[in-house]
Amino acid sequence: MERILPATDENIKKGAEILKGGGLVAFPTETVYGLGANAFLSQAVARVFEVKGRPRFDPLIVHISHRQMVFHLFREVPSVAEVLMEKFWPGPLTLVLPKKEEVPDIVTAGLSTVAVRMPDHPVALKLIEWTGAPVAAPSANRFGHLSPTRAQEVALDLGEGVDLILDGGKTKIGVESTVIMIEEEKIFLLRPGGVSVEEIEKWVGKIETTLSSPEILSPGTLKKHYAPRIPLYLFEGDVEELLLCDLSGIAIVSPFPIAHSREEVKVLSEKGDIREVASNLFSVLRELEESHFRAIISLTVEEKGLGRAVMDRLKRASSGYVKVREGKLVL
Ligand code: TXA
Ligand code: MG
Repeated sequence: MERILPATDENIKKGAEILKGGGLVAFPTETVYGLGANAFLSQAVARVFEVKGRPRFDPLIVHISHRQMVFHLFREVPSVAEVLMEKFWPGPLTLVLPKKEEVPDIVTAGLSTVAVRMPDHPVALKLIEWTGAPVAAPSANRFGHLSPTRAQEVALDLGEGVDLILDGGKTKIGVESTVIMIEEEKIFLLRPGGVSVEEIEKWVGKIETTLSSPEILSPGTLKKHYAPRIPLYLFEGDVEELLLCDLSGIAIVSPFPIAHSREEVKVLSEKGDIREVASNLFSVLRELEESHFRAIISLTVEEKGLGRAVMDRLKRASSGYVKVREGKLVL
């Protein structure tokens, strides 16, 4: 069997059979590609950790296709969660709430909570529905690498470990879902993502965005994560000055168009749209790490709306900031 198949109904059905039998299927969502296993088959979920090289303390997101499925996962559904599910599902919002006992510990890394979302992608929804069970799926990359936005990138990262990769083209949003935890009507941001904090706050009021140690509450949010294989630095100063430096072997990533652009400048959105910036971020970084460049310097965006998720990923991918001093690049 060929490992990457187009995501036709027939192939999605094959995928569902594989998941039912305890195999692993990579599939597109609206954010990034996921590496799925039947959430109620512990052995299958264990294989997800092996194939990704992911530490067992890092819990997975469980994907559902119908609202009713949350009743197999969450112990209770508070009213704020109802509101958020109504407004944002299907979509890039993951809710963390106390779990039902039946949810295998391996899915939640032993935590008493479980993370759940309903992806806004027909292939993902059909796959889950035809499997007839929720699907635990982290992003389909090697642990620590950039999340894949294309099927070929999944194959490059995970290769033989996956039984089937469903190719649904490039994913639309390009950064992972927003993860929030609901605790007695209080809401904490664990990871900025595809739904902005501002949008969430419109429906449920102020949410807590300044957790001092999100890595404890959400072990997957390790500082260094989502990194390309060549060093990446951030730059916040005067771009004109930067372009006057010796940049041999260095690619410049610019979210938005800049004046006096050159060949080594990769613009993420020519039309200046932050959604396009997010959707191209990981694929451009992956292309650059495969190219002849030795390092990447990325310009920054304002940390509001989707820009918060973009900057979160850029900071995690980076080894710090560079500056220009007397015409030279310094760390
Ligand atoms: O967009 C996405 O969310 C993608 C697609 C495939 O759905 N998935 C994804 O999964 O990014 P992953 O495993 O790469 O990231 C899951 C995040 C991690 O930061 C993890 O720590 C957090 O969700 N998480 C999962 N369960 C949790 C829990 N019970 N408590 C706190 N954080 C949790
Ligand atoms: Mg991930």
